[in-house]
Amino acid sequence: MSSTVSTPISFDYPLQDSAGLTCTAQAWAKVPPHLAGPEKAAVIERIKQLLIEKDAALVAHYYVDGDIQDLALATGGFVADSLEMARFGKNHSAKNLIVAGVRFMGETAKILSPEKRIFMPDLEATCSLDLGCDTNDFAKFRAQYPDRVVVVYANTSAAVKAQADWMVTSSCALAIVHQLKVEGKKILWAPDRHLGRYIQEQTGADMLLWNGACIVHDEFKAAELEILKAAHPNAQILVHPESPQAVVDLADVVGSTSAMIKAVVEGTAAEYIVATDKGILHRMRQLAPNKKLIEAPTAGNSATCKSCAHCPWMAMNGLQGILDCLENASGEIFVDEPIRTQALGCIERMLDFTANHPDLLAKAQHGFVKNIGAA
Ligand code: 13P
Ligand code: SF4
Repeated sequence: MSSTVSTPISFDYPLQDSAGLTCTAQAWAKVPPHLAGPEKAAVIERIKQLLIEKDAALVAHYYVDGDIQDLALATGGFVADSLEMARFGKNHSAKNLIVAGVRFMGETAKILSPEKRIFMPDLEATCSLDLGCDTNDFAKFRAQYPDRVVVVYANTSAAVKAQADWMVTSSCALAIVHQLKVEGKKILWAPDRHLGRYIQEQTGADMLLWNGACIVHDEFKAAELEILKAAHPNAQILVHPESPQAVVDLADVVGSTSAMIKAVVEGTAAEYIVATDKGILHRMRQLAPNKKLIEAPTAGNSATCKSCAHCPWMAMNGLQGILDCLENASGEIFVDEPIRTQALGCIERMLDFTANHPDLLAKAQHGFVKNIGAA
């Protein structure tokens, strides 16, 4: 079957809000101070006590501050990619969940577990993909293509998920879209144009793409990556598929955050160039202390400025914010019940598919392993 990729350029995320400020400037202004010494130790101790007293579990994404990741693991919580965060939150018996990540992760937890109270250190921690996919604009886009299966990335609002047939994350998108193609389905994809393009290339599915992007991964630069690779010829290049095509094309491994960590832990190379949010290096260093990890470049040596390869919204998560959730019940996530019930179907479909088809997921991983033949 011939495939079609079309990019409707009329939809994109606003770079400035109505006050003329960039979204990221507002986020960076809210990044909490990094605690240290006795103050940090006291806050961590208090959080540990309260997690037990309040029957709460802490679940964190790989991009948040390393202290939060360590605390999640030390208290029986979890550090994971967005797919496994969702599954952990649904299956855990705690009455309360603290989700250290960005807003869509807290919303997904609430949609899956309405009986639990879900808290986030800062409810304004969002995502450029979510910001760039307005609910009403998406409804208009979707209405133009009623014959297409609607597949949305996890990085969207509950109201956008409520309009979708499937939710996917970067660790299962390839397997799910491949399966839909086998079933002869045409796909409407939102919002990440780079991930959508990559999935279309790998599966050959007929996909219409929304024009969104992650502001962190969009900054990685292929020309500079080639120069870095020349200086480290034996390094493996690991790329998250939210990155631009020219960067993905240079990768040895393309995959979700958990796939990238697995590649470092299980890989035989001594050096890895890592093209994703640098928060991931914390867990990579813990799990593979003998491997050399090199951050992928976001600009050339002659550039006037470089992006820091760190998500400003992930950076808004701090220990003090977690303590506020536990002490003052601040940052609670609510999702309107009609939206929640409509959004539930697409998330459960993904969780069921990933639980019931480990064979298809494993097979799809072959598509994520580039330039080294079948894994
Ligand atoms: P993962 O699902 O790979 O953890 O990615 C989530 C995300 O927000 C990447 O930017
Ligand atoms: Fe969104 Fe990118 Fe931040 Fe992930 S890293 S939460 S995709 S802005």
